[in-house]
Amino acid sequence: MADHPDHPVLFLPGPTEVDAELRQIMATPLVGHRSAGFVACVQDVCKRLQPLFATRAHAAFETCPATALMEAAIRNLVPHGGLTLHLSGGAFAERWAKISGYCGRQPESLLSTWGSPSDPDALVARLKHGPHPAAVMITHNETSTGVLQPLQQLAAVVHEHAPQALVIVDAVTSLAGAELQFDAWGIDLAFAGTQKCLALPPGLTVYALSERAMQEAAKVTDRGFLLDFVRAVPDTVAGKPLATPCVPLVLALQHQLRRIEQEGLAARWQRHRAMRDATHAFAASHQIAPYVSNAAARSMTVSCFHASGRDVKQMAERASAAGYKIDQGYGDLKGKTFRIGHMGDHTVARLQQCLATLL
Ligand SMILES: Cc1ncc(COP(=O)(O)O)c(C=O)c1O
Repeated sequence: MADHPDHPVLFLPGPTEVDAELRQIMATPLVGHRSAGFVACVQDVCKRLQPLFATRAHAAFETCPATALMEAAIRNLVPHGGLTLHLSGGAFAERWAKISGYCGRQPESLLSTWGSPSDPDALVARLKHGPHPAAVMITHNETSTGVLQPLQQLAAVVHEHAPQALVIVDAVTSLAGAELQFDAWGIDLAFAGTQKCLALPPGLTVYALSERAMQEAAKVTDRGFLLDFVRAVPDTVAGKPLATPCVPLVLALQHQLRRIEQEGLAARWQRHRAMRDATHAFAASHQIAPYVSNAAARSMTVSCFHASGRDVKQMAERASAAGYKIDQGYGDLKGKTFRIGHMGDHTVARLQQCLATLL
C-alpha cells in the first residue's frame, strides 16, 4: 500500500513511485547552487553517472524533460539538413522523427510494426542501399508499446555498414532498468529522465556522450546555448552548470545513485527482469494477451497487454480503489491495451499486490 494517505502507488510507465527516503532529501532546506557543497555534489553526480551508463566517456545532466535531449541530440550532432534515420515502431520514436524535421534536418523512418522490434537485417538492407545517415536514432525501450530493442545488435549493424553514423539512443525507460553498455556497444549519446527507472520526480535528464560525438558537435553550427554539449558538458562535470539546476532533485539523484551502487546495477536489471516475468506470468494465467508477441523483445520496465475482452477503465478503477495506479494505454491504444510500469524501486512482492487488484 501507499506510504502516504490517499496516494495511489504509481505502477505507471513513468512517472513511477518515489519513496519516502528520497522525498525527505528533497524537503531539506535549500542550498545555493554555487555553494562549495553543492558544486562538489554536482561533480560527484557526474562521476557516478559514468558507471550507470557503463562509460568512461562524458556523463552529465541537465534540468529539463527528456524530450529536450531528443532535440539537443539533433541540434548538436546532426549538421543542418543532415539525414537522421529513426528506427520506429511506436509513439516516442515517431515523436523523435518529427523533432528532427522541426529542427530543419531530414528525418527518415525505418518502420517496424507497433509491438515488434526493429529487424537488424532490414537495417543492414537500408544502410547498404540508401544514402548514409548522419545519425541513427534508436528508442531502446519504446514505452508506448513495451518493446525492448535489440540495441547491441542494431548498434553493431550501424558500425559495420555506416561507420560514420552516430548511434543515438533514447534510454528514457531502459537506463537503470535494463542492460545498457554505452562503451562496449559503441553508443554515441544516450539519455534518460529521472522519473523512470531512477525512481525520482521528473525534472532532470542524465546523459552520456562519446568523445567522437563531442568532436562531431564541435563541427555543427548554431547548437544553441543551454544544451550545447560542447559548453554544457565540461561546465557540468566541473560542478558549475550554466543555469540554475533543480537543486533538491540533484541532491536526491546523488543519494539514489549511491543506493543503486549498493544494490548493484546487474542486480537492479535482474529485479526488473523478475518484475517483467511476474507480470507476464500473471497475464498468461488470466488469458490476457501480451501486446508484444516476440517474448525476447518484451520490455523489462513496462509491460503492455491487449484488453483481451476486459474493460480497461474498470480494471484501472479497481486498482485505484485498492491504492494502485496503472495506465490505460498510450494514445490510439487507449482502452484497447493497458500498461503496467514496473520500474525504479518497485519489488516483485509489491507488484504482485497491485496485479492482484486488477481482476
Ligand atoms: C521512450 C521515451 N522517450 C521520451 C520520453 C519523453 O520524456 P519527457 O516527458 O521527460 O520529455 C518518454 C516519456 O515517457 C519516453 O517514455
